[in-house]
Amino acid sequence: MTSDARCDDPVAAVAGGLRPLGWGAPMNAASLQRVLDGLAPPGVVVGHRVISAGDEAALLPPEVASMRSSLPVRRRASGAARFVARQLLSGLGYPSCAIPTGADGAPQWPEGIVGSLAHDDDVAVAAVALARDVAALGIDVEPAEPLPEEMLDLVVTKQERRQLGNDPLTARTLFAAKEAVYKAAYPGDRIFLEFHDIEVDLIEGRAKTKSDRVFTLRYCAAPRIVVLAFA
Ligand SMILES: CC(C)(COP(=O)(O)OP(=O)(O)OC[C@H]1O[C@@H](n2cnc3c(N)ncnc32)[C@H](O)[C@@H]1OP(=O)(O)O)[C@@H](O)C(=O)NCCC(=O)NCCS
Repeated sequence: MTSDARCDDPVAAVAGGLRPLGWGAPMNAASLQRVLDGLAPPGVVVGHRVISAGDEAALLPPEVASMRSSLPVRRRASGAARFVARQLLSGLGYPSCAIPTGADGAPQWPEGIVGSLAHDDDVAVAAVALARDVAALGIDVEPAEPLPEEMLDLVVTKQERRQLGNDPLTARTLFAAKEAVYKAAYPGDRIFLEFHDIEVDLIEGRAKTKSDRVFTLRYCAAPRIVVLAFA
């Protein structure tokens, strides 16, 4: 297949002048990337970018047209995530693909690709794979900080509470795992999930949704909480 056949809407290369990964950022981007590479199962590629001023310029016209939020900070994060995703897609033989947002908020990947995007205030991440290798893929990134106390009951089920122990980051890792699972599950079944609709077992590296879909989890807590969910 030619590369043009792989994208519905082949587009010109992203705007130039974007800063290289992690430039001037208060985080060791190389160490985060090493951790992410270690998380990725065979067939999945994961990347990140420290969100930088001007990253909104990485958005391609079909992406801008599809986005509901016009908030500059949100567009910057979405641009950074797509910058990363395009680099990963190029490596899989899908250069210059637009990744617009669907009406439900889910990213629309080129045919033959599964993927997921996430961003916190500082970092954007993307994970992609060929659909023939991986059925479903979700990612989330969170700062390595405890979950606010008032969110605990909303996020953590009675069964999951046994996992909390003394590590202050476990509850936030559960939160990230559920968001990653939701992003992996939604494109296939279009079912809205609450936090308690997903049971996570961090020790086993497994999650199950209320509709009995099972996902494998891989995660890290430093220098960022990042969770990958896949099936
Ligand atoms: C999907 C969702 C969890 C993302 O969380 P968030 O804190 O807004 O933001 P994140 O940075 O983690 O992820 C944002 C990315 O998620 C992706 N996303 C949004 N809706 C999605 C969906 N329905 N399916 C898959 N991915 C989706 C998008 O790529 C988005 O980035 P973009 O706008 O730049 O394209 C949230 O938008 C949502 O829809 N929540 C409702 C369901 C829910 O929260 N249930 C409880 C947890 S299971």
